[in-house]
Amino acid sequence: MPGLTIGDTIPDLVADSTHGKIKLHDYIGASWTIIFSHPGDFTPVCTTELGQMAAQAPEFARLGVKLVGLSCDDLQSHNEWIKDIEAYTPGCKVTYPILADPNREIIKQLNMVDPDEKDSAGNPLPSRALHIVGPDKRVKLSFLYPATTGRNMDEVVRVLESLQKASKYKVATPANWKPGDPAVISPSVSNEQAKEMFPQGYKTADLPSKKDYLRFTNV
Ligand code: BEZ
Repeated sequence: MPGLTIGDTIPDLVADSTHGKIKLHDYIGASWTIIFSHPGDFTPVCTTELGQMAAQAPEFARLGVKLVGLSCDDLQSHNEWIKDIEAYTPGCKVTYPILADPNREIIKQLNMVDPDEKDSAGNPLPSRALHIVGPDKRVKLSFLYPATTGRNMDEVVRVLESLQKASKYKVATPANWKPGDPAVISPSVSNEQAKEMFPQGYKTADLPSKKDYLRFTNV
């Protein structure tokens, strides 16, 4: 089934949240935004995930990123659940809004439906989907995990930093890159251009092909 994917503009939907009504494009404004879904309130993996997102909220704020959670249950349930989340991950405060989607309209629009999970009434439940949306409101990266696999929130921070580097410089980040490691210069950049763009210099890997395409620089 086709659905929202990288490059698409995130729908400008209006939804109820724990912070009041949210119009998604207005909420995003000119920021990077992470929108992440959870199968349900008062479930074990989700409780740990929302706590970790809350614990890392200062890190996301440092990177200029807004957060929005989503779980299908209603707002009263979300507000009760937040007490458990904050108690389970001591020191964390759920400062980001959590959307309610009792009619399962939002999860369909955002490609967040888990084909295998249903609630007790047979309604669809969200997968563990996560979209990173750029200031241009387009999806830059998506994770799509089943209900049974909790996400690694350090990986969310890592990919976010990679996306931000690539949006600022003509670079990409190699396998297992961590913030602070050298990035690689985009293949579309010639060596002449690279000398101008990266006055700090770059190192080219000596490969059997003798093609100069694997060039590392610090940005
Ligand atoms: C959980 O959050 O633990 C969960 C939710 C739905 C299905 C399986 C696990």
